[in-house]
Amino acid sequence: MSYPLIIQGGMGAAISNWNLANAVSRLGQLGVVSGTALDLTISRRLQMGDPDGDIRRALQHFPVSSIVKKIIDTYFIAGGKAEDTPFKNPSMFSVKPARALQELNIVGNFVEVFLAKEGHDGPVGINYLEKIQMPNLSAIYGAMLAGVDYILMGAGIPKEIPGIIDRLTHHGEVSIKINAIGATDALKMFFEPKQIIQQHLPELKRPKFLPIIASAILALTLYKKSTGKVDGFIIESPTAGGHNAPPRGAMKLNEEGEPIYGDKDIVDLEKIRKLGLPFWLAGSYGKPEKLTEALSLGAAGVQVGTAFAFCEESGLTPEFRLKVLKKVAEGTAAIRTDPLASPTGFPFKVVELEETNSEEDVYLKRKRICDLGFLREVYIKEDGAPGYRCPSEPVDTYVKKGGRLEDAAGRKCLCNSLMANAGYPQVQKDGSEEKPLLTAGDDLVNLGHFLEGGRTTYSAKDVIEYILKEQPDAAGKTASAQRATMRG
Ligand SMILES: Cc1cc2nc3c(=O)[nH]c(=O)nc-3n(C[C@H](O)[C@H](O)[C@H](O)COP(=O)(O)O)c2cc1C
Repeated sequence: MSYPLIIQGGMGAAISNWNLANAVSRLGQLGVVSGTALDLTISRRLQMGDPDGDIRRALQHFPVSSIVKKIIDTYFIAGGKAEDTPFKNPSMFSVKPARALQELNIVGNFVEVFLAKEGHDGPVGINYLEKIQMPNLSAIYGAMLAGVDYILMGAGIPKEIPGIIDRLTHHGEVSIKINAIGATDALKMFFEPKQIIQQHLPELKRPKFLPIIASAILALTLYKKSTGKVDGFIIESPTAGGHNAPPRGAMKLNEEGEPIYGDKDIVDLEKIRKLGLPFWLAGSYGKPEKLTEALSLGAAGVQVGTAFAFCEESGLTPEFRLKVLKKVAEGTAAIRTDPLASPTGFPFKVVELEETNSEEDVYLKRKRICDLGFLREVYIKEDGAPGYRCPSEPVDTYVKKGGRLEDAAGRKCLCNSLMANAGYPQVQKDGSEEKPLLTAGDDLVNLGHFLEGGRTTYSAKDVIEYILKEQPDAAGKTASAQRATMRG
């Protein structure tokens, strides 16, 4: 069996969209769409009029037309909504999500994978975060309905997911244990595909499952204790874009207020190699010499995010992409690891950029509001029922729900900021437009070579050709020949 040398990492929300993943998979590597908030993303694309008709074309292939009709009737606006009109939001996820929300989530995931796979026969993956638990069951099912080839999952310990994938191949009922604060009994969430789809569908293909991890102990735990097969690992270091695993032990900060990582955070690759599963290295590996190094360490290849996040096919809006690339070319681009910004509590890499939420005074002007809720934590209320709170919601509301004041300090609304990054900013009731908060890995400052000779942009093909430069056989192969090997 042979594997892709390059995995284009999942980048939420809607940064590694179907367009980017499709381009990467066509070029013979593994394109991965972000599976985060696809219910919301599809609802906004439809409200913006779906100008090229891609979403509606994909919807025609969804097996249940009555579900599609409901979604079109609810969200599609021919010609798009007026710019100053707020988007209509779907309901927020809970442990018992509304049926319409589950349908939207299944369809959103189906559409993203369908479009990423359209027009070529290369494999496509989808990326989820274990920490965003409540949408995951219906999301995975939607992606599997579209024939997704790989599921990649980070930000947690996704032990239950392999068994869930197995059951979903037969459209079987699945459940997951929800990490609820203060729960004495296990709080479970259930999802029954047949109740939603209500028709007989053929058995689905089982995608390969690749957890994204930052320690050998976690790899071992997942290998031994998962409810089904783990097919390999992505091993991500703290220089990677997006969320990073916190340092081992108590978090200490440097003078700039960034988490300090040490020797304990270096993954013991010998232990990983012993498991005998393929693995990919991530975090500043988007360079020819780093791919060569990864292969010499026994890896199957590398996972790369940052270089792809700023290429033409990415879902990042051209305005911010070009602004950041200009800074890269000028040598003024800067990244900070913010230990507080993300409501998840995980360190989050932030691109310093004027007029975005990376600037404290810009963010402080924003009125705190929680209207999307993907990062809400579940807690058990006094009456024993589940409650939901986010450290970035209005502070008094959070504290009233039992949240600690100190946990709310410095938290930013990633849900709304990330939607703005992808060009779907909410216009709030007071008329203010949500601002972006860009993320990238430390490698951002090294993207200058793509901009030599005064170029202002570059493509996914440029990224792939660059990373493969030192690989003698890969350079000589055509994309289709490589794909044939990958299907292995
Ligand atoms: C803009 C951006 C968003 C990201 N979002 C996610 C995400 O939603 N889920 C995830 O597992 N990793 C995410 N990542 C991490 C990438 O998938 C990848 O592992 C990482 O970027 C590799 O390191 P590099 O940035 O040095 O190339 C993100 C990275 C970037 C740059």
